[in-house]
Amino acid sequence: MAKHAPSFTCQNCGAVYGRWAGKCEACGEWNTIADEGAPERAGPGRPARKGRVFALQPLAGEAHDAPRLPSGVPELDRVTGGGFVRGSVLLMAGDPGIGKSTLLIQAAAALAKTGHRAVYISGEEAVAQVRLRAERLGLAKAPVELAAETSVEDIIATMSEGKAPRLIVIDSIQTMWTDAVESAPGTVTQVRGAAQALIRFAKRSGAAIILVGHVTKDGQIAGPRVVEHMVDAVLSFEGDGAHQFRILRAVKNRFGPTDEIGVFEMTGAGLREVPNPSELFLSERDLGSPGTVVFAGIEGTRPLLVEIQALVAPTSLGTPRRSVVGWDSSRLSMVLAVLEAHCGVKLGGYDVYLNVAGGLRINEPAADLAAAAALVSSLAGASLPAEAVYFGEISLSGAVRPVAQAAARLKEAGKLGFTRAFAPESARGETGTEGGLALTAIGSLADLVADIAATSKRTRSPVRIAGQDG
Ligand code: TYD
Ligand code: MG
Repeated sequence: MAKHAPSFTCQNCGAVYGRWAGKCEACGEWNTIADEGAPERAGPGRPARKGRVFALQPLAGEAHDAPRLPSGVPELDRVTGGGFVRGSVLLMAGDPGIGKSTLLIQAAAALAKTGHRAVYISGEEAVAQVRLRAERLGLAKAPVELAAETSVEDIIATMSEGKAPRLIVIDSIQTMWTDAVESAPGTVTQVRGAAQALIRFAKRSGAAIILVGHVTKDGQIAGPRVVEHMVDAVLSFEGDGAHQFRILRAVKNRFGPTDEIGVFEMTGAGLREVPNPSELFLSERDLGSPGTVVFAGIEGTRPLLVEIQALVAPTSLGTPRRSVVGWDSSRLSMVLAVLEAHCGVKLGGYDVYLNVAGGLRINEPAADLAAAAALVSSLAGASLPAEAVYFGEISLSGAVRPVAQAAARLKEAGKLGFTRAFAPESARGETGTEGGLALTAIGSLADLVADIAATSKRTRSPVRIAGQDG
């Protein structure tokens, strides 16, 4: 007979069930429920502990001496909101191989070089492997303390000795285990128990702790999702294998903004910061080919110029394809519907592909105008002016609505050598200067379509046709 009643836990969301089921009712995932035994060592056989009386503090108390500690990696500090907060715990989530360990050893080294105690604990790699990576990054001499450990109790005991560390990197939380929980390492219950113990230690010692968490889609390893609500900030490290750049985004942040991004480039010598990302995203520009447009966007407080590409081609299918990479597909449907309804652009017989170059993901409605320009340009086979940027939100009536931070967008475009901008009328009033750009105010989407159609007539030249034949 089992000593305790079995407890089944969803490995995806952490919901607990009394018996096994194929589908988790809480998150809807299939085959994620596993027997983990009793979740904690407390049980009916254990006497209830008498509570201890603690002293309450007034709100108007003394604050921490140095609330933030800059990491020495400015792009990381931008995302956290200015550095690590004392006693805070941060989850760094990302796909395996994206560069989490690389970024964190670089951050730990940068911090250690400024004289603070930084500890890097790897549960996945041996010390030699971590050293090898540091050597490759040119950080072999950095005074970072290393260990390859997985027991949370041992880690906490070690960290409690000597001068308190200012930064502890735990790589990764999925490999940690605590004695307080009976389940096997890697299960949701263990991940949660280990995270809880580390969070308690961070609050007590004032050290900032970064937990690395692998995200897996198939639910094989317990996802770090269960940890998300326990930590102070969740940063997500994104990028795709085909591109060198990586984006760090705050998904949750108790002490700072969540709309800032940090941009890095993976090089042979580690992650390089990209303080001016527009240059990166425009570096492979298909200048002047139909369907290509530069969108002047904003990520957080930072302007970011990206290229949007569209391909509109006659369809051979009953239902034409609508494929989007890097943008919202429902916004594409909306832009297509407005083009049909208000501008007489019929796309029913065409496949439509839209791609944000470089693998970036845009969430702003301000990209509507740029996307529409790319679509019409591809359909008409007319190039858009290569020296122009586009931005503006399109309403269902076909009007182009004002967008935030027009001045910053225009300034960034001017800085990168653009000389024209197609934007809502309000951009003119707001800036006064237009950053030295010639501004073409677009009142409605129909104006833009007419403008592109006019260019198309002018440029429908033998050169283009010859180019297509050859
Ligand atoms: P890593 O930091 O180990 O990823 P994670 O901890 O998120 O799993 O980085 C793994 C990838 O980064 C690996 O495919 C090799 C690449 N890389 C470089 O391109 N340059 C470098 O200097 C380093 C250290 C790694
Ligand atoms: Mg790693």
